[in-house]
Amino acid sequence: MTEGSGSPIIAIDGPAASGKSTVAITLARRLDLQLVDSGSMYRTVAFLAMESRCGSTDEMAVGAIARTVRAEYRAELPGEGQLRVFLGERDVTGEIRSAEATGAVSDVSRIPVVREEMVDLQRSMVSRSGAVVEGRDIGTTVFPDATLKVFLEATAGERARRRYREYREKGIDANISEVARQIRKRDEIDSSRESSPLAIPDGALLIDTTEKTVAQVVEEIAEALEDV
Ligand code: CDP
Repeated sequence: MTEGSGSPIIAIDGPAASGKSTVAITLARRLDLQLVDSGSMYRTVAFLAMESRCGSTDEMAVGAIARTVRAEYRAELPGEGQLRVFLGERDVTGEIRSAEATGAVSDVSRIPVVREEMVDLQRSMVSRSGAVVEGRDIGTTVFPDATLKVFLEATAGERARRRYREYREKGIDANISEVARQIRKRDEIDSSRESSPLAIPDGALLIDTTEKTVAQVVEEIAEALEDV
């Protein structure tokens, strides 16, 4: 499809815990657009790799899992709350955010065949009416002609605090320095991999969310969209 103003594709990229998911969900609801959360796809691959105990670096086995995810992934955005993620009929919303899946996701995400399958899935999910698509390589690789490209940043300390708060709110026992270490490790792997690394896309609107509320960031993106 072509990205006309009536069917915008808004690409939102950024490092771990930079606020992408919350901003993307709020924006999708406000603009009544579909939400494509690419991270939840890579997380589903990682979760299945952990569940089948094949190891996160076994390219053949993880590649086969990626093909299953491509065929069976489904997501629903309810009127309130988080995105629900399904594999066929199985609800994997909570499991894909477990510590184990999070610990493996950057390793499975650097396998080229996994990226090919997930990029195909992301493109196939975007309908004619447009979408908010969030991830690491959306503006650089998946939709380089997106109507609007946004890159969200926040200091490492603020990102660790946000993720730590999220864990605590879900009742998950967490340690802030361990959360900070995991985020640093994922950022390093995501930014240095050969296949479509995390990078600021050309022409992206850069937003430092460190001292901004979700509402302020969403407003800034909605205003930028009006000027496209
Ligand atoms: O929400 P959070 O920032 O923790 O991460 P996410 O968006 O759920 O993405 C989880 C992981 O998936 C990232 O750390 C990347 O390793 C991978 N990912 C990717 O490689 N490419 C994307 N377009 C999205 C996510």
